Amino acid sequence: MPARKTRKIRKKEMENILEIKNLKKYYPLKKGFFSKTHNFVKAVDGISFSVQSGKTLGLVGESGCGKSTLARTILRLIEPDTGSIYFAGRNITDLSYKDIKNIRKDLQIIFQDPFGSLDPRFTVFGIISEGLINFSKKIEKKELYQKVTKVLSDVGLGEDALGRYPHEFSGGQRQRISIARALVLSPKLLVLDEPVSALDVSIQAQIINLLIDLQQERGLSYLFIAHDLSVVRHICDRVCVMRKGKIVESGQTEQIFENPSDLYTQNLLKSIPKL
Ligand SMILES: Nc1ncnc2c1ncn2[C@@H]1O[C@H](COP(=O)(O)OP(=O)(O)OP(=O)(O)O)[C@@H](O)[C@H]1O
Ligand SMILES: [Mg+2]
Repeated sequence: MPARKTRKIRKKEMENILEIKNLKKYYPLKKGFFSKTHNFVKAVDGISFSVQSGKTLGLVGESGCGKSTLARTILRLIEPDTGSIYFAGRNITDLSYKDIKNIRKDLQIIFQDPFGSLDPRFTVFGIISEGLINFSKKIEKKELYQKVTKVLSDVGLGEDALGRYPHEFSGGQRQRISIARALVLSPKLLVLDEPVSALDVSIQAQIINLLIDLQQERGLSYLFIAHDLSVVRHICDRVCVMRKGKIVESGQTEQIFENPSDLYTQNLLKSIPKL
């Protein structure tokens, strides 16, 4: 390959940590007794976008439009029907289960429900250290302890949390623990699937500010999913608006807020409560 072309590709890798192209995931519906044809829920129906390194892309849309299916497909927790996923310049669409497990160190997901996503049988130390032990079996106890306490303090929790169980924490604190669990592996990209939707509005702001600080300190990239446009305004550089499995509008966050071109986006904006 000519040197100039190689340089061009490298530059693109650095610019876009994630690129998805024409991704599709249809769920088959049960065939009715009289119907001869299969029907599908077109949860993700030909979606393409990219997340720039160190930036935040917002993905917004009403309930059921396919956001979580898309998030899980990007991590290959759900297999796409067609399309491709490039992560850090590498096509990960057809990687084997073993290889994809290694990629997940760099590509972590945080779920909406801070109650269901933490194993109630583990202490906070157990929850946060699990990934580190999986990825480096030989890690010494002292190093493990240091890494876990450091990341806990980075998300605003003290050492006293280490021996406690998830049910002893509030929703916001649990989401901090989920963030710590993801960050301890030093990922490049976090897919945040409605990370604050289950939290009170005042707590939402705290978690969003924490995510903004962590991004600045660590140079992280985010794909931030929300159904509420007001949440994405403060954290996202660009926004994609999703409806029924498709992107209907995308652009710089301010442009979407000031001058939405799609009627659906205009309605999403109207539904934001004026405080
Ligand atoms: N495992 C599944 N089997 C069949 N249909 C599914 C499955 N998971 C999701 N769906 C359907 O796919 C569509 C998209 O669901 P998805 O959970 O991705 O939406 P969402 O945008 O994340 O919604 P919410 O905002 O409520 O979280 C919905 O119509 C849903 O009913
Ligand atoms: Mg969802």
